[in-house]
Amino acid sequence: MERTFREQLFLLVLCLSVLKGDARYVENNEISQDDLYTVFNLDLKREMPDIPTELIYRRSLRCLDMIAVEGQFTFTAERPQLNCAAFFMAEPNEVISVEYDHVDIDCSGGDFITVFDGWVMKGEKFPSSLDHALPLFERYVDYCDSGSRKTLRSSQNVAMLFFRIHNTGSSFTVTIRKHINPFPCNVISHSPEGSYTMVIPLQQKNCSFSIIYPVEIKISEFSLGPYLFVCEQRTSPGCADAGDFVELLGGNTIDSSKLLPITDLCMSFTGPTQMKIGCENIVVRMVSSGRFINRVSFSYRLLNSQELQILKLNSIDDFCSTK
Ligand SMILES: *[C@@H]1O[C@H](CO)[C@@H](O)[C@H](O)[C@H]1NC(C)=O
Repeated sequence: MERTFREQLFLLVLCLSVLKGDARYVENNEISQDDLYTVFNLDLKREMPDIPTELIYRRSLRCLDMIAVEGQFTFTAERPQLNCAAFFMAEPNEVISVEYDHVDIDCSGGDFITVFDGWVMKGEKFPSSLDHALPLFERYVDYCDSGSRKTLRSSQNVAMLFFRIHNTGSSFTVTIRKHINPFPCNVISHSPEGSYTMVIPLQQKNCSFSIIYPVEIKISEFSLGPYLFVCEQRTSPGCADAGDFVELLGGNTIDSSKLLPITDLCMSFTGPTQMKIGCENIVVRMVSSGRFINRVSFSYRLLNSQELQILKLNSIDDFCSTK
């Protein structure tokens, strides 16, 4: 088990719970009567525009940060900060926009702010290059090069910001918003338990749902076009020839193309498939030829430490233990 990956995950989980607390605090304590009156008035108009600026959640941005709420975030360098990253996360059916409100950095002096369409951890990316519609270089947008692009929108429920600032006192402010995504493809689960249905409707693409915790996963249902029993004739395991299939992958990186296969599902199927997997990252990936409407439904819950211990004792090698 890679320690740093683990530590990063703990940080993310910790930050997420802290941020949820923050959001409640704002709701309970920081909205005045006047603000509420504004909200009611907006409701009467039956058209809810962007969050009115007087209601927006604001706080400072840290050099290493995790943000799961909408709001306005300001980074101010109190000393040179050369390796900073902020991770943004939304619900599975949302995408994230990052808007620059104010930027005072020294582009020519080597400062930068870069938005990445996805997450990068230890140099590995989610979604993997294989599963993202854009080529890798288009997923990085640098503030200093992009000039007029003030707002960037992610392709999935995660995005991040890298920044480097040399001069004390330099600062920038970004507004983070969430937008409904009617057809989510790649997703990082925002919690260690839940359920999800992935649908790829008549599109030639591959989608991954990534769970960055060891979990018990139960695939309750899936259908892959009209082909029943596509794989029945196959003698070797795996579904790679089937065109349309679902694979369950596991490992200790967020790049799904570097994970190892745990099981493949490639015939239409109804009934439970349940498994405990002791990996740091577990991915349900659907490969779709575009000829059918493909669907898979599953639910998952966090393994407790005793379950993890039992899995590890029973497994022969170090690769994530399964049962
Ligand atoms: C989807 O994944 C399969 C197998 O992993 C690959 O052969 C195919 O090129 C991918 N399709 C797209 C559109 O990326």
